[in-house]
Amino acid sequence: MKNELAIILDFGGQYNQLIARRVRDKNVYCEILPYTTSIEKIKELSPKGIIFTGGPNSVYADGSPTVSKEIFELGIPILGICYGMQVMTHVLGGKVETADKSEFGKTSMTLTEDSILYSGTPKEQQVWMSHIDYIKDMPAGFKAIAKTDNCPVAAMENKEKNLYAIQYHAEVENSEYGDQIIENFLKICNFSRDWSMESYAKVAVKEVKEKVGDKRVLLALSGGVDSSVVAAIISKAVGDQLSCIFVDHGLMRKNEGDEVEAAFKDSGMHFIRVNAEERFLGKLSGIEDPEQKRKIIGEEFIRVFEEEAKKIGTVDFLAQGTIYADIVESGLGDSAVIKSHHNVGGLPEHVDFKEIIEPLSHLFKDEVRKLGIELGLPEYLAYRQPFPGPGLAIRVMGEITKEKLDILRDADYIFREEIAKAGLDKDVSQYFAVLTNNRTVGVKGDFRTYDYTLALRGVKSTDFMTAEWYRIPYEVLDKASTRIVNEVGHINRIVYDITSKPPATVEWE
Ligand code: XMP
Repeated sequence: MKNELAIILDFGGQYNQLIARRVRDKNVYCEILPYTTSIEKIKELSPKGIIFTGGPNSVYADGSPTVSKEIFELGIPILGICYGMQVMTHVLGGKVETADKSEFGKTSMTLTEDSILYSGTPKEQQVWMSHIDYIKDMPAGFKAIAKTDNCPVAAMENKEKNLYAIQYHAEVENSEYGDQIIENFLKICNFSRDWSMESYAKVAVKEVKEKVGDKRVLLALSGGVDSSVVAAIISKAVGDQLSCIFVDHGLMRKNEGDEVEAAFKDSGMHFIRVNAEERFLGKLSGIEDPEQKRKIIGEEFIRVFEEEAKKIGTVDFLAQGTIYADIVESGLGDSAVIKSHHNVGGLPEHVDFKEIIEPLSHLFKDEVRKLGIELGLPEYLAYRQPFPGPGLAIRVMGEITKEKLDILRDADYIFREEIAKAGLDKDVSQYFAVLTNNRTVGVKGDFRTYDYTLALRGVKSTDFMTAEWYRIPYEVLDKASTRIVNEVGHINRIVYDITSKPPATVEWE
């Protein structure tokens, strides 16, 4: 894929992916690369613009991230953001100092000079600051173009060399005109804006066609967005040379297995649905511990997949739905494993294939969804909310039985239906029902009941590392609750989960 390129040079900041999203939204293809990327590599990639990200370090600390001075001599426009500004200053001979007063949060900034970087924005604007160090002396050739009360150089430029830097985070929504600043920088770089999902779809299909030729491809289709979009690209490219194995483990939501089958069975590919419900439920019988459930499901999935793959024989390519977020590393330390996220659809060890193809490896999640629509996938597949590989096994608390799964499926379906009817389905990032292991006393008609408590959960999140509980309107909760207790047997009490992550996790198990 030969789009014009912007490089986001990663200094470990928390908003790096957000910068990349902003750039791509403006039809400019960009990649996030570590700050250690060599000058040779950068020259080879020949980007039309470079953005230095923020980062948690101080330029004076031992071993803090830096760049070679040469990068400023390439004639490529550069925008430094926060730490990126400080690195630019430090490397070019200016002076960075620790401020008496740090600046965090919304701050008023005043433009002090006309600059193309701020064209179309007012003299006074709110920006989002997050820094302790500041620019005391600018490098030679620079002039200050904006200031705040505590920061004499909130933005600076060296127009001749096309070097720009800002102390605040233009990429976050709290910076009022941040998006315009990024837009202006891309204009300075003179991008032709050739990145769109329409063109990506054409090129991706063509590339797969060329790469695969007359060979065979195998894909584990989970019914999730990523593997569905991969299936769509590859089947468009090579039709029946693609075999998709869809392992239905019996832990899917209501109608889900049939929906996946309906979407793909006439697509020209070789579609194999393995109904393995009994097998999975047998293995899970009597198991209560969530981690053990995950392990059993992960292992059994691989086993079923391998058995089916063997029937197909040797394949040349194994396709995977790896997306950009899976491969971008922020360069920060390892975080603790809270739950082992067995990704059903993960790489099997004993399948005979020569090479892997990952047609989504450059795309963000929302781009994958757009691509899916572009390729003709139905909306309910392209905009499907995340669904854990172990499925409803981790939403039925404690021991799993077919009866409990069916109760949960019916309740969850009604909840999802009410969310969709209220027009909230694209705004709530993930929403579902959980069948707790708790039974309580209730009354139905004149009779005492002793039935399950169902929990409803809805969260707002972008990366699911953190999530906020969603304020679903009472009327919607009320409708869902009334319908569930009336239409689904064995549930006589419903609660709504009002905890965010942390301290809770999204799933209950
Ligand atoms: P937690 O519960 O860890 O969930 O806050 C964060 C996101 O990950 C999903 N999740 C899983 N996905 N296998 C998966 O493929 C798993 O075992 C698993 N556990 C949680 C969860 O649905 C949410 O989107």
